[in-house]
Amino acid sequence: MKKKVTKAIFPVAGLGTRFLPATKSVPKEIMTLVDRPLIQYAIDEARAAGITDFIFVTSKGKSALEDYFDRSPELESTLRKSGKDKLLETLKQTYMESGAIAYIRQHKALGLGHAVWCARRLVGDEPFAVILPDDVIAADKPCLQQMVEGYAETGGCMVAAMEVPYEKASSYGVLDIKDDMGTIVSTKGMVEKPKAEDAPSNLAVIGRYILTPSVMKNLGKIDRGAGGELQLTDAIAMELQENREVYGYRFRGQRYDCGSKAGFLQATVAYGLARDDLRDEFSQFLDEMMALQKAAQ
Ligand code: G1P
Repeated sequence: MKKKVTKAIFPVAGLGTRFLPATKSVPKEIMTLVDRPLIQYAIDEARAAGITDFIFVTSKGKSALEDYFDRSPELESTLRKSGKDKLLETLKQTYMESGAIAYIRQHKALGLGHAVWCARRLVGDEPFAVILPDDVIAADKPCLQQMVEGYAETGGCMVAAMEVPYEKASSYGVLDIKDDMGTIVSTKGMVEKPKAEDAPSNLAVIGRYILTPSVMKNLGKIDRGAGGELQLTDAIAMELQENREVYGYRFRGQRYDCGSKAGFLQATVAYGLARDDLRDEFSQFLDEMMALQKAAQ
């Protein structure tokens, strides 16, 4: 029987320079879509997929992220006294069971592969998930849950996958497809950030992974790859060289690249419009804005 995936790694050590000056004092993962920080979306998705152990790979300046998951007795009692039960419920979503969350420091910015490797002692000899909170995925069934169900059939390693335009391939890990079965594809290779002309396909890796313990071992063996960094993609590709399976999973859902300003704005609009309490006012405003834009052209 395949072992259940109960541990997830959240690499959150990045400096978030693309969002300076905001990220000078606020970790990128605390930036909000409507009223919830990016990290809350990632945690909710992990919980829905059955994750019970949450491992954060952090760095200097990320204490706001650690505080976010603490209890806040004062806020709680104020809300309780003033009968704000709904807000109290919202607050409780941020609480984690004691011992469910662990923080590991990445002391050097050596890349995503290195960040994941920093969590090796906490993961041990088990399959584990990796969630990149920058990739926000709106879906009826959360993306990692879809993948956990797929993984129950396939085993091996599994990465979330999505078609992108070839000219964008150089921003992603890209899959070399062996057998395309629709939702699930088997692979024969994986390349990190190839040039468009070298990309083996336009099926890109999105930031959700289910990985075997041997990938963790591979991370200790790989050399620096694309961008001079230790790449998670290279450690996963090593599985293929050793004849173990790596699958891509074409998830159902809309992915927003919240690591970019344009993607963050798109996600803000989409999540704003998805909210019953905001939709009418917000869509009216957007209509007016569009009309003004058109009139100005
Ligand atoms: C990382 C991974 C890449 C993946 C991407 C998805 O790149 O290295 O393989 O396609 O996330 O968002 P980054 O965006 O951190 O450069």
